[in-house]
Amino acid sequence: MDRKKSFVLKGHICYSDEKKKLHIKPNSYAVCKDGVCQGVFEKIPQKFASFEVRDMGDVLVIPGLTDLHAHAPQYAFRGQGMDLELLEWLNTHTFPEEARYADLEYAQRAYGMYVEELKKSAVTRAVIFGTLHVEATEILMDLLEESGLETYAGKVNMDRNGGKNLEEASAQSSAAETRRWLQETEGKYRHTRPILTPRFIPACSDELMAELRTIQKEYGLPVQSHLSENPQEVAWVKELCPKAKSYSDAYFQAGLFGGTYPAVMAHCIWVDEEEIQLMKEQGVYVAHCPQSNANLSSGIAPVRKFLSAGVSIGLGSDMAAGSNTSILRAMADAVQCSKLRWRLVDSEAKPLTFPEVFYMGTLGGGSFFGNVGSFLPGYAFDALVLDDTSLPQPRKLEVSQRLERFIYLGDEQNIVCKYVNGVCIR
Ligand code: GUN
Ligand code: FE
Repeated sequence: MDRKKSFVLKGHICYSDEKKKLHIKPNSYAVCKDGVCQGVFEKIPQKFASFEVRDMGDVLVIPGLTDLHAHAPQYAFRGQGMDLELLEWLNTHTFPEEARYADLEYAQRAYGMYVEELKKSAVTRAVIFGTLHVEATEILMDLLEESGLETYAGKVNMDRNGGKNLEEASAQSSAAETRRWLQETEGKYRHTRPILTPRFIPACSDELMAELRTIQKEYGLPVQSHLSENPQEVAWVKELCPKAKSYSDAYFQAGLFGGTYPAVMAHCIWVDEEEIQLMKEQGVYVAHCPQSNANLSSGIAPVRKFLSAGVSIGLGSDMAAGSNTSILRAMADAVQCSKLRWRLVDSEAKPLTFPEVFYMGTLGGGSFFGNVGSFLPGYAFDALVLDDTSLPQPRKLEVSQRLERFIYLGDEQNIVCKYVNGVCIR
């Protein structure tokens, strides 16, 4: 037994289960053995009696949060160009900025700042886009590995429509660079995993998608991409893929839409019922990014439909289309956006509840990593200890009230410590 990674944490413990039920356990004990949660107890069971007890006082203890979709190279222009829609924003701000990552000194500096912020944040796990540059992506992965966070990171593939400075010369050269990246990083990391990253259909030719499918089978890799974010983008995909029934079907026909290897698709706003069924069948994850969707006036995702259909769903910052990296903020934004959808788009779609968005930010997204995002027995011990006593409070609140309020009002300054696999990383 690793004694450093075996202990008992005492506090007001809050977590979701697989049915999205929120459990609130005041003054309870979460047991961590070798980095794995053994459950939450009102009294410490005899078999754990020898474990060190870390009594954290009057604090909230919640599972670490997962950012299921973020773009590391977009950190530098957060909060800029927010008056544009997707395609204009990509061409005006995003692609020119990402082209800078050919410069490794710049990559080191900018990625260093992003990873520093992520380490301080409430996020313990993240699924991250790099750029098309192999060396810069390796710098990002080195920094992520040092941070102690658990992540997937991807070298982006794009062989069309990136403009002259952000486009790979051919499907073959994009595939060759992807292979070089996978070979150079193979076996190098313990906490940082590669993920295939075709940017989106408009940036990837059919030949490139076929190459990536071959690489996926060779290496057994998951995929991250974007799906149905913006109406103009959806219309463009229709033109680019006349044989596909839908945007989802374009990925499906390429063999990169879940099934044997997991896939996470950001946004999924303009999907129809058939696509939702396909996502369910293929086990595709939705990364719901409400702040991004509002910033780029992309639309309001049908989250209630995903939940009802049993589609896997977590939350993403989509930084920098989401200007804020916080998944606490994403939980609050998800509630707000769902209310607008209910009021303006679909009166059948009940707004999201607090337990539902808490689930999405913890277990919903965490499950992309396996048993992650809960304090049920057998889950990775990823935990946040939160001191909310600095938030003004003229009367005593229940733990459940404190938790909901924290999601809206708290931030990284309230984090006392953050555990990943039972290791305190800040
Ligand atoms: N679709 C293709 N690339 C991007 C990106 O960088 N951000 C967002 N929000 N959508 C995209
Ligand atoms: Fe994105």
